[in-house]
Order: sequence, then C-alpha cells, then structure tokens
Amino acid sequence: MSLRNSISNIFKNLIRCKTPDELIETGEKSGLKKTLNVFDLIVIGIGAVVGTGIFTIIGIAIQGGKDIAGAGPAVIISMLLAALASFFPALSYAEISAMIPVAGSAYTYTYATMGEFMAWMVGWILMLEYAIGNITVASAWSGYFTQFLKGFSHVLPAWVCNFPLWLRTDYRTMYTLCDRFGWNVYDKMPFIHLPFGINIPFAVNLPALLIVFLLTILLVRGVKESTRFASVLVAINLFIIVSFIAVGSFYVAPHNWWTPAFMPHGMKGVFMGAFTIFFAYIGLDAITTAAEETKKPQRDIPIAILSTLAICTILYVLVALVLTGIMPCSAIDTQAPLAHAMRCIGKDWYAGFIAVGALCALTTVLLIYQLGTTRILFAMSRDNFLPKSLNAVHKKYKTPHLMTWMAGLTVIICALFMDLDVSAALCNFGTFTSFILICVMVLILRKTEPNRKRPFKVPCCPLFPILGILICGFLMYCRFANDKDSPLYFLLWLALGLAIYVFYGYHNKRKNEGE
Ligand code: ALA
Repeated sequence: MSLRNSISNIFKNLIRCKTPDELIETGEKSGLKKTLNVFDLIVIGIGAVVGTGIFTIIGIAIQGGKDIAGAGPAVIISMLLAALASFFPALSYAEISAMIPVAGSAYTYTYATMGEFMAWMVGWILMLEYAIGNITVASAWSGYFTQFLKGFSHVLPAWVCNFPLWLRTDYRTMYTLCDRFGWNVYDKMPFIHLPFGINIPFAVNLPALLIVFLLTILLVRGVKESTRFASVLVAINLFIIVSFIAVGSFYVAPHNWWTPAFMPHGMKGVFMGAFTIFFAYIGLDAITTAAEETKKPQRDIPIAILSTLAICTILYVLVALVLTGIMPCSAIDTQAPLAHAMRCIGKDWYAGFIAVGALCALTTVLLIYQLGTTRILFAMSRDNFLPKSLNAVHKKYKTPHLMTWMAGLTVIICALFMDLDVSAALCNFGTFTSFILICVMVLILRKTEPNRKRPFKVPCCPLFPILGILICGFLMYCRFANDKDSPLYFLLWLALGLAIYVFYGYHNKRKNEGE
C-alpha cells in the first residue's frame, strides 16, 4: 500500500463514526428494564450534582486559593455565571440525549458525531471529570470528617478529635495554610530524610485515602445503585441545605456583604470564582447515563436536566447569601465552610449535624463518580481502545473488579500530590471541554442529521450552543491566564491521552477488530 493510501486510511479511521441508529440499536439490545420516571431522574441528578461544590468549594470560590483571586460576597454573581455556563450545554445534552436515548455520555455522542479519535479524547477527558473529580470530593470528605470528630470532643480523646494537621491535609494545602496564617512550614510538617542532607516536608490526607480505599472495596463487592437508596440520601442532603438556609438567615448581618467590599478582587475575582464554583454544577450529565432505563426518555430527560439545574441554582444562591451574610468573608473556612459557619454562631450541635449530612452527600458523589469512571473505562474497553482483559468480572462478586481498582488506585495515587483546589480545577477543565463539545455536537447533528426526530430542540439554535461554547471557553481562559499549575496538568493529561491513543489504542482497536 502506498504511503498516500496508508495516510488516507489512518485519517478515515480517525474520523469514522458510529451512526446514531447503531447506537440506538445497541441500546435496545442492552435489555435494561425501563422503570425510571422524571422524579427518579431528578433524584439521580441532584444526587450527582449536590456535594463538594456547595459544602466545601464555595469557601475557596469566596476566599481564593494559592495565587487565585476569590470572589468575596460577589460569589453570588459567580454562581449565576457558572449556572449560565451549565445552562446552554444542559440544553444541548437534553437535545442529544432525547434524540439518541442510549446509556453513555459525551463519549458515546462524540463517537456518533466526531469519530473515533475525538471519542477517545472525550472518554479520556471524562476520566478527568470523574476520577480526578473524586480526589476533590475525597479531600472535602476529609474536611467534614474532621469537623464531625470535633463535634465529639467531649467524648473522644483529644488525639482523635485533633489528630495532626499533616495527617489530614495534603502537601499543597499545608503550604497554602502556612502562607495564609504565617506558620512556619518546618514546625508544621515532619520530614522525610533523603541522602545528601535533603529533607522533604511531608503531609498526607489519610481520611481521604481511606474513604476511597473503603469505597473501592465496597464497589468490588458489588453495590447496586438503587434510586430508592439514593432518594433517601438526596432527601437528607436537601433537608440539611434548606435548614442551613433557614437557621443561618436569622444570623445574617447585611453589612458583611459589602464590608470591606462586595467584590474584593473586582471582576477578576468574580470570574475566577465562577470557574471554581462551576464544580458545584458538575454531574448534570449523570442523568443522561440512565436514558436506557427511562420509560419516556424523550420527554423526561430534558425536563429532569433543566429542573435539576434550576433547583440547584436556587439553593446555591441562597446558601451563598446566608454564608457570606453570617460572617466576614475573610473568616470563612475553606475546608468545611458551612459547618464552621454554624460553629461560629455558637450552634456546635448544628455544625455536627451539617457534617453528618455533608458526609452522606459526599459519599454518594464518591460512589456515583467511581461507578462513572468504571463505566467509561468499560465503554472504552468494549470499543477496543483498552485491553479487553480489563473488563474481567470477579468470580465471586460478578463486578468489574480490575477496573474498579484501577479507578480507586488512580484517585489514591493522585491524591498524594494534588490538593482540592488543583483537582477541582482539573475536573472543571475536563467538564468545560466536554460541555463545549456537546454544544458543537448539536451544531454538527443539525447539519448531518437534519431530518432525525428531535423530541426536544435547543431553542434559538445556533445562538444558544454558540453562547455555551463562548461562556465555557471564556471561563477556561480566565483560569489559564491566572494560574500556572492546573492548566499545565490539564495539558499534560491531554498529551498523555494522545500518546496512549497513538501508541496503543489505535493499534489495539484495529488488531481486535481484525483489520
Ligand atoms: N457537583 C459535584 C459536587 O459538587 C461534583 O460534588
């Protein structure tokens, strides 16, 4: 075969798409029971969306992180911006998932519109959303676990309630805290002594690692997702958030909203805050993963996606108003802000109550995301991008144990050197990218499949998808322009994905498909 033919073949492979009909046919063959209604879908949506963002990251969006400006009380504007950034892609998700109602997510849809190479890259980026997002959630879990233990300080020994900071905080956060409070790093951390007199300060977030390890064991043993179980956790979750708003609103002192300034870092702080708090909206796409099990997906999925977004936005804005109204922004905690705020107004018992609720919410998100990582790996392996052996099912528990461990160990290893802020930023980069692509897909499908039935249509197309692309792109740009570490890690992640595809995925797919 001439060089020209080979190149043309490779190119054809890279852009080869599965047709929407092929996808629908695969979905119909899956034999999943169609039992879910719109209420179940909203429960799944809220279960996946409400978590670390509102319980923890709101503190970072207000205060800022290492080298990152915070929004201050203007976090409310940041939240509305982040909601808007999610709104247009949510409409796009609704259109595509109602049109191609199969389990899967952006990965599957990309395969139908942009071809094999982009599908691989999107799968790889989704791993960022799910696996690296879990590092963020695990770190937040650790913060609330500490608050929870503090709630028992009168019963438990002091070494349990106040175990050393370096054992419950990662390395980067220790540095940020030392900076913020003027502590000496050398007093706060023990050292690893290396040869040649090199001493490296050491910190490890032990509770975060342990919870991921325990949940991985649980998932290997087989935890069935059950919407009934999820609805109980979601109800607890919502009750706690609503009661925070109700109790806290009695302690709001409006001057906290504008003292020393409503926007302490101007619009830059607001945009950075919007990028950061966007994490709180991630998870809307989880609804589309249940498409094959939904009775009337064409009608219910769009309603569920938009209702989840509306409910979460209203709750988040109210929480932000109360939190920034209760205390001066500079005093807001970045590890467990809601519980800490309650402690500051003398409601210690209520802080413990919030900590329990947050632990429930975060555990649900951890489970959903770990399952999500496994599902994406499963889909990529089924499409022959990854070794089929990874799909091996445990003899006794009948679960994809190798993949589950892969997902768990990735989180555990990465959590050793990433903090909550960087992992959330990476997860946001991944989700913004998949949101941008989903808007692009709507535009492509309108051209390539103009006659396919669309039970739900994005209004004002192409304006709305284009607005989605612009807002998500702009917020990504803001972080790129103001931060060094997380954009670099994001680019490295993309480069690693590209390398795996070039040196392994592409060939493995051809080999297994007998080409
Ligand atoms: N939106 C999810 C959370 O806040 C990822 O935990």
